Amino acid sequence: MSRVNRPVRHELRLIDEQVRRIYLLTNRLLQFVRPEAYAGNTERLDVGEVAAGCVDLVRHMLKDAAIRVELACPATRRVRISRSELQQVIVNLLTNAIHAMPEGGNLTLATRDWEGHGVTLHVRDTGRGIRKEDLPNLFNPFFTTRKQMGTGLGLSISYALVERYGGRITVESKVGQGAEFIVWLREDGSAAKPETDGLS
Ligand SMILES: Nc1ncnc2c1ncn2[C@@H]1O[C@H](COP(=O)(O)OP(=O)(O)OP(=O)(O)O)[C@@H](O)[C@H]1O
Ligand SMILES: [Mg+2]
Repeated sequence: MSRVNRPVRHELRLIDEQVRRIYLLTNRLLQFVRPEAYAGNTERLDVGEVAAGCVDLVRHMLKDAAIRVELACPATRRVRISRSELQQVIVNLLTNAIHAMPEGGNLTLATRDWEGHGVTLHVRDTGRGIRKEDLPNLFNPFFTTRKQMGTGLGLSISYALVERYGGRITVESKVGQGAEFIVWLREDGSAAKPETDGLS
């Protein structure tokens, strides 16, 4: 960039950032209203293997924060779901966990066999945690505590994606002690819910 236009470099960067924000928001809104248009083919997937790939996708975000990642994925069952949708859900959860730990901490991804039903994926962080009064709003569209930065669509889209395969996302958290999100994924990827699975 020449000396003449150097003074506007900062403004150009701001414009770039805002264009990217608008692009992301538009994409999320489209996916929010038309999730089926974004759905990929389904496959029988090893959730741990997909989770490990997602950690690589967010590795650039871990560099600045002192975040240690641990993977413990012993689940043996496979689940039927679209790989790109599962990746989107996991990357959303990882991104949220990283944002909750600006001072660093531990990020744990674990899978467990969900007897008789499928697999659970656990995404645990040691970040700031979630206030009790915020917990009921977490999956509502546009709920965000990230002021200018968040659209508040990450969790609501993730919930809708998982629900289309008969699954759920639940959360447990205490302020100051971190959060654990559990993704419940069904083996057959069907939206039909047996009465006996403990999820209602
Ligand atoms: N691991 C977490 N620890 C603490 N708070 C969390 C965590 N995950 C989600 N939250 C809270 O839930 C809110 C909603 O999350 P969601 O992913 O839907 O939106 P966002 O991250 O704010 O924005 P977006 O994902 O659209 O960029 C967050 O703003 C934050 O307050
Ligand atoms: Mg988010």
